[in-house]
Amino acid sequence: MLVGGQGTRLRPLTMSAPKPMLPVAGVPVTAHMLARARDAGIDRVVLATSYKAEVFEAYFGDGAAHGLELAYVTEAEPMGTGGAIRNVASYLRSGPDEPVVIFNGDILSGLDIRAIVARHTSSGAAVTLHLTEVADPRAFGVVPTDPDGWVTAFLEKTPDPPTNLINAGCYVFRRSVIDQIPAGRPVSVERETFPGLLAAGVRIAAYLDNSYWLDLGTPAAFVKGSRDLVTGLIASSALPGPVGEALVLPGASVAADAKISGGSTIGAGAIVAAGAEVDGAVLFDGATIGAGAIVRDSVIGRDAVLGDGVVADGVVIGDGARIEPGNELRSGLRVFPGAVLAAGAVRFSSDRS
Ligand code: GDD
Ligand code: MG
Repeated sequence: MLVGGQGTRLRPLTMSAPKPMLPVAGVPVTAHMLARARDAGIDRVVLATSYKAEVFEAYFGDGAAHGLELAYVTEAEPMGTGGAIRNVASYLRSGPDEPVVIFNGDILSGLDIRAIVARHTSSGAAVTLHLTEVADPRAFGVVPTDPDGWVTAFLEKTPDPPTNLINAGCYVFRRSVIDQIPAGRPVSVERETFPGLLAAGVRIAAYLDNSYWLDLGTPAAFVKGSRDLVTGLIASSALPGPVGEALVLPGASVAADAKISGGSTIGAGAIVAAGAEVDGAVLFDGATIGAGAIVRDSVIGRDAVLGDGVVADGVVIGDGARIEPGNELRSGLRVFPGAVLAAGAVRFSSDRS
């Protein structure tokens, strides 16, 4: 599992925690992915870490609590996706012709993992890619196929995509193919390995699975993923509570007349005061939402404080930031960790009209 990226598009949230460790519906993205892998019969996972590597082992330990055996391999310098895969080769226990499943660490998906492995094995492909269909493929790896389901090209982040089928970030590799990735230097599996294999005539199979799929790389996607887990649109055995309108973690306190809805998560020790409305939002542990405040489609960082009556709609508030009363924050605004917005500093009011 590749968990070493920096998560730049999720800044400032990723300044303190790597993207795969950010809590979606109460637990790290990685915990949901590991649960899916375990539920599909995978019993050992190697985490390829780089950025903020130490936090993974601190949280997951040897994996026993998650029903898995976990190993960690840390790159001193980020080696890219292919370099990270090569770097864990000596930790893999599969034989040369046996399958190894690789996951990007920032994906929530309903992929049938057993089925993709079965297809890989029966087709005799060197690599099998999970593909999914998206409306706008430009931000992804675009993967044209022939009528028999063999991959014909791999076009990473192309401005003019020939198909809407994209690389969904889960691969099955024949073990020996991993050993052939060059060691000791950065390699992009998307820009170098896949195109190189195709150029050499090696067969890469496509496995189309259009069940739930989301890359959690942006704040809007992150909030959506959390909401979809809480409301049960995507199932996860790692969800720390029942499916419903909201997930309230232990130690959170929500006033009786506060309204929490839309698959919101209220982190451990968070406080939602009287009359506040929290709709489709993620409150990290220890966040405080003042009386009458409105929080919608937003991420509120650890121990951040929103004053009474503050409006936060479609924004990201960094850990420990303090938003004093009289602020109205909207449309993609990001507040950095520890920042203080004085009373009335930001307003998007309609009184211009
Ligand atoms: N260990 C390690 N080292 N992991 C890395 C490194 C690295 O140097 N670089 C990236 N990763 C991890 C990230 O943490 C993430 O889990 C995964 O590799 C993919 O990196 P992203 O930075 O999230 O890539 P992307 O979202 O722009 O594109 C990738 O995913 C798309 C699907 O979401 C590509 O694989 C695309 O082809 C694909 O469509
Ligand atoms: Mg990504």
